[in-house]
Amino acid sequence: MHFLWYPGHMTKARRMMQENIKLIDLIIELVDARVPLSSRNPDIDELGKNKARLILLNKADLAEEGKSDEWVEYFRGKGYSAVKVNSKKGGGIKSIQSVIQEACKEKMERDRKRGILNRPVRAMVVGIPNVGKSTFINTLAGKACTKTGNKPGVTKGKQWIRLNKNVELLDTPGILWPKFEDQSVGLKLAFIGSIKDEILQTEELAAELVKFLRESYPGVVEGKYGIEGSDDAYVCLREIAESRHCLVRGSELDTEKAASILLDDFRGGRLGRITLEKPETQESPENL
Ligand code: G4P
Repeated sequence: MHFLWYPGHMTKARRMMQENIKLIDLIIELVDARVPLSSRNPDIDELGKNKARLILLNKADLAEEGKSDEWVEYFRGKGYSAVKVNSKKGGGIKSIQSVIQEACKEKMERDRKRGILNRPVRAMVVGIPNVGKSTFINTLAGKACTKTGNKPGVTKGKQWIRLNKNVELLDTPGILWPKFEDQSVGLKLAFIGSIKDEILQTEELAAELVKFLRESYPGVVEGKYGIEGSDDAYVCLREIAESRHCLVRGSELDTEKAASILLDDFRGGRLGRITLEKPETQESPENL
């Protein structure tokens, strides 16, 4: 699913978020493990102050394992609970309930001291479009699904998914708007397919990806397509077109097609597990 964002969308998303945040104790924020910072919106820190926080590095199956571990440490160092998950295949999901309870430990303790017993923790999933919010909710709910609310005789309103006697999850996720004003953030979000391809030309985007890969994952493009790998990213796209027999009008190399193949292969994990951001280099915005 692709999104084009306008100021109106952001205002609406922010308003929805503000309303729903009032109802919950814990924010479960999904980020993309390949771009854990670029796929966040730091405004959530302001919106969610005083709430327990859990960051899930989703799509961990597409990111480099060791780097994801470093990111987990990075977020923990900043005071968040953090774990890696693969919502599509269910990896890491089994332990989520205990992670949620751990993230809410202080709140549960406060409740207990005030004599509030048996009040479940309420949580909401948030994240930018395409990060995997619905997949995560479905996978989690598939394991423990009892919907509450909107039943005759029960208070009308939000739908909650009861995960166990201690935790309830709001069944509609909160949508965060990406921070694509920063060019390098926009580029990385375009690489992973979170912002519409039409914003950037496919070939231009693919050429940028070639540059990044040659720098950080040398040999990957060459190995995948059996090409020499020119220093010039556009020549590299021509080599991919040649090796994949992408032709237009019978004989001309179709570099646009080659660019789409490269982007699709990257997004589908067919170039291997690749992380676009490293925790220690985040201070320098010119990175990438
Ligand atoms: P959203 O609600 O945040 O907008 O995201 P959604 O769940 O719709 O997921 C967006 C895409 O990301 C989906 O792919 C989904 O399958 C994929 N996805 C979600 N979690 C993971 C994960 O942990 N690993 C991987 N590899 N993919 C994940 P799609 O192409 O739109 O749909 P489909 O082809 O998978 O059906």
